[in-house]
Amino acid sequence: MNLLKPTILAFAMAALPAFAQVSVTVDTTKPGPVINKNVYGQFAEHLGTGIYEGLWVGPQSKIPNTRGWRNDVVGALKELKVPLVRWPGGCFADEYHWRDGIGPRNKRPVKVNTHWGGVAEDNAVGTHEFFDLVEILGTEAYVNGNLGSGTPQEMAEWLEYMTSDTKSTLAEQRRKNGRKEPYKVAFFGIGNEAWGCGGNMKPEYYANLYNHYATFLKTPPNARPKMIASGGNDDDTKWTEVLSKEAARGTDGISFHFYTLPTGVWEKKGAATGFPENEWFSTMQQTMRMDGHIRRNVAILDKNDPSRQIGFYVDEWGTWYDVEPGTNPGFLFQRNTMRDAVVAALNFNIFHAHAERVRMTMIAQMVNVLQAMIITDKEKMLLTPTYHTYKMYIPFQDATSLPVAVDNDVAYSSNGKSVPGISASAARGKDGKTYIALVNTHPTRASEITLNVAGQNVSGVSGQILTSDAMDAHNTFEKPQAVKPAPYSAKAANGKLTLKVPAKAVIVVAAEA
Ligand code: AHR
Repeated sequence: MNLLKPTILAFAMAALPAFAQVSVTVDTTKPGPVINKNVYGQFAEHLGTGIYEGLWVGPQSKIPNTRGWRNDVVGALKELKVPLVRWPGGCFADEYHWRDGIGPRNKRPVKVNTHWGGVAEDNAVGTHEFFDLVEILGTEAYVNGNLGSGTPQEMAEWLEYMTSDTKSTLAEQRRKNGRKEPYKVAFFGIGNEAWGCGGNMKPEYYANLYNHYATFLKTPPNARPKMIASGGNDDDTKWTEVLSKEAARGTDGISFHFYTLPTGVWEKKGAATGFPENEWFSTMQQTMRMDGHIRRNVAILDKNDPSRQIGFYVDEWGTWYDVEPGTNPGFLFQRNTMRDAVVAALNFNIFHAHAERVRMTMIAQMVNVLQAMIITDKEKMLLTPTYHTYKMYIPFQDATSLPVAVDNDVAYSSNGKSVPGISASAARGKDGKTYIALVNTHPTRASEITLNVAGQNVSGVSGQILTSDAMDAHNTFEKPQAVKPAPYSAKAANGKLTLKVPAKAVIVVAAEA
């Protein structure tokens, strides 16, 4: 037996710190662009129980509600200060005919939701109900129009119905249906995923249609929404290239969709819980691709739109797993774990770094669908780790981004691929405080971060941390508080501010004088 070997191993292990030592420097003297609060937008589609049950239970329900919108879910969402909500889809938008959703609810037609589970859609939630939700939440509206199976006339009339302050028949019809004042449509999407469910088009063809439809979309001058051209997804930059040249007139933003699939393969995406570490890693790695997608598309925008009129709107992003066994595959229901919280925070940090062009994003989706904030089961409701991440990042809404450098980062590597071990972002909040967000992507390795804040005397930091023991830790109706934020603080000692960051953690702190 070789007695020397264990001794050498023990020595080698003692010499290696059990945590990564990283340095993060925030420069408060060089403020960057403002992080538009609409980066924290959310998407609510007629899909599964995302709207019906998850948000809308109807005024007659035993579940406490306000004019049909459930009070528990809406109350929790209000705390997130959601700036913008997109409705009615998604793929659903291109088969939605707005006239089905106005007038007395018991007289509305029942349709089939052909995209999502083939279930009956009774149109109980229509334009007036959606704007009621928007007003209850204190948010703004992003309405997505139907280009795929509608007509320019239908789209133009919907916009007139919502925004007209005249005595036109459509404006009067809106008044008759209970709404005197025009609604404020902050953003209007002209179709969705035209390359796929929105019509299987080529970008050049869609660009022509976009211009065609946009020609007829008229509103009072002060009520014109920001018009969105529906762009590409994933590695495809052609849509940004074509639309920024051909559909640029009057366009406020080109949309882009990118979902995080652990395996990167649609047919077998990976499970939401009970996954191995290599799928934790690949989920981080897939998420980090967002940065490259934004860089490539923004480079095209910088070339074709040097005056930076056009925003790059990532209006669908988030994790997309195999559906939970036993659930309707068309409902896209998945659990939400600590991994999702880390994915959300990584995306936020990437969006902040591109704040100049990324002026709006939407996680998919708000309740019960994909990477949701909230999961409901009839009268029960729970908050997901993603919800908590959104709440922790509220100070970044409309904050001024600050440059951050991460030095000596120890990459998280697997099978020859790497992601940053630590992701960091910083901003000067509207309250004047300096906020710092830190994410440890590694599921088992802690980090020790030396934090330097240039241009400000900092004696310590305080805020919140979200972390867990298990990679797939999640909240259940039995244990709804299994994953929740805890207070976090650190004090400078001997002129050095050191933050201990556990494995798989999201931290948001404010610097203290
Ligand atoms: O978010 C779910 C679906 O994903 C949306 O309806 C569609 O736009 C995308 O393919």
